[in-house]
Amino acid sequence: MNCIEEYEKYIAKIGDRKSLYRSVERTFKVKKALYPGSHIDISASLVIPNVTYIDNYKGTIQFFNHINEIKNYINLNKEYPEECSIDFFGLDYNANVQIKKVDMLISQFAGFVGQATKKHLKKGGILLCNDSHGDATLAYLDDDYDFIGVVESNNAIITNGLEKYFKFTKERQIDVSLVLSKMKGPRYKYQPYNYIFMLK
Ligand SMILES: C[S@@+](CC[C@H](N)C(=O)[O-])C[C@H]1O[C@@H](n2cnc3c(N)ncnc32)[C@H](O)[C@@H]1O
Repeated sequence: MNCIEEYEKYIAKIGDRKSLYRSVERTFKVKKALYPGSHIDISASLVIPNVTYIDNYKGTIQFFNHINEIKNYINLNKEYPEECSIDFFGLDYNANVQIKKVDMLISQFAGFVGQATKKHLKKGGILLCNDSHGDATLAYLDDDYDFIGVVESNNAIITNGLEKYFKFTKERQIDVSLVLSKMKGPRYKYQPYNYIFMLK
């Protein structure tokens, strides 16, 4: 199986995120993104011209060894006019990687990305995350971020009525120590597909 077949097989399993990334890119005019813990989800590069991926898993490193094939595929299928720019670091995303600040961080099922890589985000930049591992909850509780929207499963971005999120059916406080120790988002009454935060 070549790397593109591997990517297509992966996308068939996790679902195509291109529409999610496109929706956020169009709304917030994202040109440059960082995707720590990406594994081989390169769909962001189909809609965002400059994406840096970081992942320390052996299989991901092997995948990105085929960077020329990946770039060829993206250039043939991308939705923007310029050549794609794709970088990959086969490292722990907590490491001190030299990256120019980005317009958007992508955090999908890969731990506390919004915390660990906040330093790479421009002021006014976007954190797109889900709460699978509690990353959205940590951003919600983090004074450095403003909670500005959610993305529904049809990829529609909602920016009104946000006060109903991060609330439990029976009112109680969020136990952040539990989120940190279990690396799992709490079960809130409303659980959108993704959350959007803006760095202050
Ligand atoms: C469950 S997969 C999710 C992959 C992708 N984000 C997705 O949603 O399809 C988690 C990925 O995060 C990577 N990861 C987790 N912690 C990491 C860290 N500290 N540094 C780099 N990569 C990490 C793993 O190697 C793995 O590829």
